Amino acid sequence: MDMIRVEDVSFYYGTDRRFKILDGVSFSAKSSEFVSIIGPSGCGKSTLLRIIAGLVRAGGGRVMCMNREVRRTVPEISFVFQDFALLPWLTNIDNVKVGLSLSRMGDDEKDKRASELLDQFGLSGFEEAYPNTLSGGMKQRVAIARAIASDPKVLLMDEPFSALDELTANTLRRDVRYMLKSKDISVDCVIMVTHNVEEAVELSDKIVVLSNKPSRVKEVKPVNLPAPRDKHSKRFLSQVDEIYEELTQ
Ligand SMILES: Nc1ncnc2c1ncn2[C@@H]1O[C@H](COP(=O)(O)OP(=O)(O)OP(=O)(O)O)[C@@H](O)[C@H]1O
Ligand SMILES: [Mg+2]
Repeated sequence: MDMIRVEDVSFYYGTDRRFKILDGVSFSAKSSEFVSIIGPSGCGKSTLLRIIAGLVRAGGGRVMCMNREVRRTVPEISFVFQDFALLPWLTNIDNVKVGLSLSRMGDDEKDKRASELLDQFGLSGFEEAYPNTLSGGMKQRVAIARAIASDPKVLLMDEPFSALDELTANTLRRDVRYMLKSKDISVDCVIMVTHNVEEAVELSDKIVVLSNKPSRVKEVKPVNLPAPRDKHSKRFLSQVDEIYEELTQ
């Protein structure tokens, strides 16, 4: 089943639709798929992801989530931001509980769920600390825990690893991959924006390559490499080369 279907989505900024950013973008993300969106800087990737999330209205076309049109934010879809977007005045556990604010759980149950998630992300012991005492990688873990706390089906991530140093990013990528396989996690489909080609090839089942703005889909490339992916293998490197070529053409 298509978890997300982006149908001919356009977007403009300015009065009289003066600046065209997205020009008829279409692609789909199926159940159990990890899809990356890659494209030149400023081509409208974040805008596209916000439209999919229902945070921004498309100027044309529509987004379907499990065959229902997305007109506003919906509980099935959750978002992870590049800069973590944690609330500094709340403890880590309370930040995770923000993800449960619409849930009907009682407070005790929310506490339990939030601390289980923190534990799963290697943050037990940090429940009552504040985000400013955490490293970047730990902050992004809290943010991901918050995003998945409400059991969304679709997880959208906008350059989730790009604010982290490479070593931390690598560990977190591995943990996210592991998390997505876990049966306790509801997330069934991920759409990630990135400008990192290696990262896209490492994590994705398919890669949507966007053109310069006004952006169109240049190509949708399936990544058929066995897991876990060996970043030094010939096939991996040639897949990376292909995407680079597509981007720079
Ligand atoms: N309020 C605005 N008015 C006009 N143009 C805007 C406005 N906000 C953003 N833009 C333009 O829209 C384009 C798309 O922005 P967006 O942030 O979606 O791109 P992006 O691909 O995520 O960029 P980056 O690679 O830097 O993350 C950019 O070229 C930006 O200059
Ligand atoms: Mg962006």
